Amino acid sequence: MDKYNTSVVLGLRWGDEGKGKLIDWLAQDADIVARFQGGPNAGHTIYYQGQKLILHLTPSGITNPNTICLIGPEVVLDPFIFMKEIIKLEKLGISCQGRLLVSSQTSLILDYHKKLDACRDAKQGIGTTKKGIGPAYEDLTGRKSIMVSDLFQPRSLKDKLEMILFEKNALLKAYGQRTFDLDKIHFLLTQELAEFFSNFVFFDVVNYINEAADSGKKILFEGAQGALLDVIQGTVPYVTSSHTIIGALTNSFGIAPQKIKRIIGVIKAYDTRVGSGPFPTEIPTDQTAAQHLQQVGKEFGSTTGRARRVGWLDLPSVRYTAMMNGVTEIALTKLDVLSGLPLVKLNNSYLLNGQLIDKFSIESINELQSANSMEFAGWKNFSEKSSKRFFEAIQDNVPAPIKLVSIGPHRDDLIQF
Ligand code: GDP
Ligand code: IMO
Ligand code: MG
Repeated sequence: MDKYNTSVVLGLRWGDEGKGKLIDWLAQDADIVARFQGGPNAGHTIYYQGQKLILHLTPSGITNPNTICLIGPEVVLDPFIFMKEIIKLEKLGISCQGRLLVSSQTSLILDYHKKLDACRDAKQGIGTTKKGIGPAYEDLTGRKSIMVSDLFQPRSLKDKLEMILFEKNALLKAYGQRTFDLDKIHFLLTQELAEFFSNFVFFDVVNYINEAADSGKKILFEGAQGALLDVIQGTVPYVTSSHTIIGALTNSFGIAPQKIKRIIGVIKAYDTRVGSGPFPTEIPTDQTAAQHLQQVGKEFGSTTGRARRVGWLDLPSVRYTAMMNGVTEIALTKLDVLSGLPLVKLNNSYLLNGQLIDKFSIESINELQSANSMEFAGWKNFSEKSSKRFFEAIQDNVPAPIKLVSIGPHRDDLIQF
């Protein structure tokens, strides 16, 4: 294990824990930053020369010119969002050429995925980001996604597209939507997109990443979403369509789990969630604490701009997601946001059928009532005693040391323990 310098940053909640900010900080001397799952549903915020940058697909190490940024096989990539991101970065003087790379095995999100996502979510009510994530992952597991490598094989791509459009157009018709033309899509993919991706495509990512890890290169794997949005282990059906926990990394890059040295689980000092689904510690929006967290924490979705729901930090479910991921350390973000609240709470137990329990399970989430069992007098500044007690209460009730504490959105607003 000693020869490895590999870390993964994973969200332990419902996403938006501040993963991007942490990756940006950790990447200052990284050789490689690699995204391994999710797609443009992610919104990772970093600051570059004082300017806010929200990255949806590009790994958050992009502002370090010496870092290779890699997009892995299990990511679903919208080529147009990707292009826009590159243009924006280049305008800021951040060169992507030769160091922003996409695996040839990465699957593409196309317009029919986005259309179907919107039509389906109107009926299903999950509150998706409408970026085409669900339909794109259906194609991936259905063994019919268009991968970057397909763009360079026009003949077999035509056959594949014919089969895909046979089904997609039937579905779109059923939803009363316009259908897609085979020749037009084929032209777009094999001419415009093939040329574009020829500058970014990277073959044989599995050998590359394993050799880099074995030779002691500093590699950061950037998680997206959070454990409670995992397609199996999260609050199903109110989840995303990919695996968001540690296994997704080994699946995506074909790297063995024992090669991952640091597993950094990220939590905020309070909880948030965008979209529908259970949230045991949610604070009703008419309470001033909710308004404080929402406004001071600027809790609006980085991808959709929707107001995020807010609640107190739920420690039993942190223990649960930390357990599933085997975290070796925890990063706590947004501690600064709590300053100025008259009373701060933490949840460490629930009422279930009239009984007090301190164990979370995903299957009982709809019946769990938060007991909000710990209360702390508010503080104006997080150097005050009460804030320290709050921090210690978290540390005492999570299974790994808190090694990083973020106290502001900028790179250096960070305390290391
Ligand atoms: P991610 O999806 O996990 O990368 O998180 P997002 O970028 O979607 O959301 C986190 C938000 O909180 C962004 O607006 C960040 O700029 C901001 N942020 C991150 N860490 C801190 C912090 O410690 N304090 C404050 N006030 N804001 C933070
Ligand atoms: P980052 O990486 C917060 C949520 C959506 C919705 C559900 C399904 O920035 O933490 P999808 O479009 O994925 O099918 O939507 O998942 N969701 C996120 N919430 N942060 C994210 O990513 C999210 N990615 C998806 O809001 O509830
Ligand atoms: Mg986000």
